[in-house]
This record gives sequence, structure tokens and C-alpha cells, in this order.
Amino acid sequence: MKRDERWEGVYSFEDSPFIMEILTELRDERTGPIAFRKGLVKLGRYMAYELTKTMEVEKVPVKTPLEETEGVLVKDRRNVVIITVLRAAIPLMEGLIKVLDHARVGIVSASRGKAPKFEIEMNYVKIPEIKPEDTVIVADPMIATGSTLIKVLEEVKRYGRAKRYVVVGVLAAPEGISRIKEAHPDVQIFVAAIDRELNEKGYILPGLGDAGDRAFGAP
Ligand code: URA
Repeated sequence: MKRDERWEGVYSFEDSPFIMEILTELRDERTGPIAFRKGLVKLGRYMAYELTKTMEVEKVPVKTPLEETEGVLVKDRRNVVIITVLRAAIPLMEGLIKVLDHARVGIVSASRGKAPKFEIEMNYVKIPEIKPEDTVIVADPMIATGSTLIKVLEEVKRYGRAKRYVVVGVLAAPEGISRIKEAHPDVQIFVAAIDRELNEKGYILPGLGDAGDRAFGAP
């Protein structure tokens, strides 16, 4: 995991060969929906594992069959809310929750309208109450213009103030990260990789195409 020098609280995993191998399969145009979904689940799982390294831990006593010793409890893992931004975040969330298995889950249906405005439509929102000890993880594989996430984060913050806000994604464009950090400076961003730029249709380059279409085989 490496911190990106351009922004505060933005991390990518370009230094992790295994995460890069999964990303390579996701980028490959020949990868079909089954392998694509599996890749997203795997990424979610490994990124959640990496995220636990940034969580508060507690030393706890543990009694083995032979003697007492000291163990570890990842305290923050018990207080997680995962917000799944439909559609493509479904498999990513499935991976995240394998490690963050105590998580409460919220669902938001938000999607970008067409170019040039890319206005955000939010037509289903189900978010649990958020408590001061919570780490809120917003799962959205593609951070393109950032407009969807800015809206989703605004909405999430109406449900209570959390200890920490984190966005977990697969790919991000620098434009999207800058816009999110401007609107929500308190939010950390963890992505597998940060790509070069957006094209005129709002797709990330080199990217992986439309994550929702590729995961579910349906445009
Ligand atoms: N959403 C996607 O699925 N892909 C992109 O490249 C940008 C937004």
C-alpha cells in the first residue's frame, strides 16, 4: 500500500504484485462476467485485509490450552458500515465483507447521467444508522468524475457522524479524486490503482471499461 503524494489520505496498491495481477485480469477485454465478478470479490477481500492494517487494535489476554498469553483484537473491524453503490460494487462488497464480517450494509442506487452533464440520479437509498465509533466504507469500483461519490457521501453523512470515512474502489482518475477531496476532505480513498485520465465520455483511461456491464454481462 502506498500513499499518493498528490493528496492527503489517498492510497493505492500499485506496489502489491498480487493485487496488480487481479487488476490485470479485470482490465483484460477477454475476461468474461464470471471471472470479472470473481476478480472483484478477490480484490474486495484483499483490500479489506490491507485496510485492517490501518485500523485501531487492542491487546487482549488469551488462554491457550497450555498457558495465558497476549492476543490482538482489531477493534474497528467490529464497527463497520459498508455502503454498496449499485451495481458494480455488489461483488466488491461481497469480498470486503469476508474480512469485515461484522459490517452493517447500506445500499445506494446512484448512477451517472449522460455526457456532457453527467448528472447523478439516486433512486434507492437504504442506509443504517451511523454511530460515532463507526468506520464507513463506501464501495464503488470506478472513481471517474467523482460526482456519484460526492452525492453518496453527502447522503451518508445525514445518517450520523462516523469516526472515519473511507472510499474503496478499483480504479480512480486523478480528476475524480481531486473533486472528492475538495468536497469531502475528511474522506480517505483506497484504490487498486490510479489511472491516467478520463475520456470525453467520462470513462477512465486505460481503465477496464464499464465495470457494471462487465460484471453482469448486461449494458
Ligand atoms: N464507470 C465505469 O464503470 N467505468 C469507467 O471507466 C468510468 C465509470
